Amino acid sequence: MCGIVGYVGPKDAVPLLIEGLKRLEYRGYDSAGVAVRRADGALDVRKCVGRLSNLEEALEAAPLAGGLGIGHTRWATHGEPSEINSHPHIDCSGGVAVVHNGIIENYLELRAELEAKGHVFRSQTDTEALPHLIEEILKGGETSHAGAIRAALRRARGAYALGIVFRDEPGVLYAARCGSPLIVGVGEGEQYIASDVPAILNRVKKVIYLNDGEVAELRASGATLSKLDGTPVVPEVKTVTLRAEAAERAGFETFMLKEIHEQPRVLRTLLDAHVGKDGVVNLGPASALIDEAATGLRRVLILSCGTAYYAGMYGRLLIERWTGIPCETDLGSEFRYRGPRLPENTLVVAVSQSGETADTLASVRLARKMGCKVLGICNVPGSTLLRESDAALLTQAGPEIGVASTKAFTAQLMAFALLAIRMGRVRGALDARRERELTEELARIPDGIHRVLDKQDDVRAVSQKYYECFNALYLGRRFNYPVALEGALKNKEISYQHAEGYAAGEMKHGPIALINEFLPVVCLCTPTADEVHEKVVSNLKEVEARKGRIIAVVAESDRTIRGMAQDVIPVPETIEEFSPMINVVALQLFAYFNAKLRGADIDKPRNLAKSVTVE
Ligand code: F6R
Repeated sequence: MCGIVGYVGPKDAVPLLIEGLKRLEYRGYDSAGVAVRRADGALDVRKCVGRLSNLEEALEAAPLAGGLGIGHTRWATHGEPSEINSHPHIDCSGGVAVVHNGIIENYLELRAELEAKGHVFRSQTDTEALPHLIEEILKGGETSHAGAIRAALRRARGAYALGIVFRDEPGVLYAARCGSPLIVGVGEGEQYIASDVPAILNRVKKVIYLNDGEVAELRASGATLSKLDGTPVVPEVKTVTLRAEAAERAGFETFMLKEIHEQPRVLRTLLDAHVGKDGVVNLGPASALIDEAATGLRRVLILSCGTAYYAGMYGRLLIERWTGIPCETDLGSEFRYRGPRLPENTLVVAVSQSGETADTLASVRLARKMGCKVLGICNVPGSTLLRESDAALLTQAGPEIGVASTKAFTAQLMAFALLAIRMGRVRGALDARRERELTEELARIPDGIHRVLDKQDDVRAVSQKYYECFNALYLGRRFNYPVALEGALKNKEISYQHAEGYAAGEMKHGPIALINEFLPVVCLCTPTADEVHEKVVSNLKEVEARKGRIIAVVAESDRTIRGMAQDVIPVPETIEEFSPMINVVALQLFAYFNAKLRGADIDKPRNLAKSVTVE
């Protein structure tokens, strides 16, 4: 979603702002802008619709120089993508400029009040209420800028991460946070702000994660933090362990392809971190909560959105199978409004790559209010989700820059496998021998994924035949039903080919009406040794009888399905429970090549944002 970068220090701000915004491009945006306090005392703004290159051209045509500035990439919520609606927004007199991520929910009320007092609004955004409100508070007699910001934020309802600069205060950059992530980058004689670590990873190694309700006052020499009531806060400076290269493409044509290829390493890292040489699973700092919860648990509830929700569906199957504990899943956006009833001793498992998804966070807060303990499965250390969870299971996939989630998803699947094994052991539902068998099988998954990746040209050849189709149907059963959903999502979000995932057994309850000689039907047919395989074969027969074009993900050794399918993507076999980790990689590649052949902008699909920090 929107990106924020800010700088105060001895260097020229503009190149640093643009560099930082480029590193946030992956989050998705439709316009961009910067505000810089110039040496001659003016506060100047440049904004453009479209890519950052447009903004760069505008800055070349009319350069801006100064050591204090804020920059923003906007993903439209209130008001169409346009120059006027893009950030930074300023007050009537041009004395304060604001960049904002999130939504000010009471902006209409604030706007009406300020307009009645003579303020002239230029945009349709919620954000613009803030600079006018700050201006009004200063007019009313408040003498300190920090005081005016705090007073304005005590009136604003909703979510925000803010970067603010004033014309009359050179050398001070303000930042504030409530519900949307924001970090301060602590440099030597310079300070940054950013909505996400990769933006400034090559510039600083020390960061302060702002907490909700905190305002930061940054000078080149250091940071001062306060709460909205003015109480000082002692900043907690943390060292970033990520290397800058983690946010580079490393020779791959896109971040998404790089991340698809990183999956064997990511899964090995997770296994090394959590499985001992004796094959026993140890979930580190999360063990205490999991072990304690597992003994007395009545229910597990998994909350998440999008791809992470499909990982949760997989987790549910594993948890029920290996622990016997009833488990349900819900979408963050549904759970928070459904008036949920949770039995005592429900453990909530919240899954999120970013740890900043608004609906997931709101659901977690609701569940906590209802007395549940929360385990966060998340990829971003220091994220809001992890800070609000009772225990954390980090997926350790490294920064995921491609908007479409790939390595974070397989890491979530692996995290669920480890969690379910551990809980099963604690409950006594799995014995030590079974645990060892399972972890030995898990250790083979990274190599299995390697083998799929080695054959990526074969997947490309299949895409070559289907990329022009308008629609596709994806079918899978039981453990591979979430994979069918994820495969369809991946395809539609990056190639814009309409795709629908279905439980294969549901096909005859509706989607079978779509099948004809033009419809590609992607079907997950591994493993071959489980009880649902025969059912999948029957479902394929139904497609074949109606002349559907079958693309089957099959076991390398399969001979039955090959006869029915127009195309096959062979993958190594593993047990049914772990097959999703391998099968999904074939579907990621299929979606990838469809998108490439259709000429799509794979790392920045239209309308999408990497981290959905608004409802
Ligand atoms: C799809 C995708 C999204 C996210 C969803 C939740 O490729 O990435 O569906 O999975 O927006 O995001 P996180 O996992 O950050 O909570």
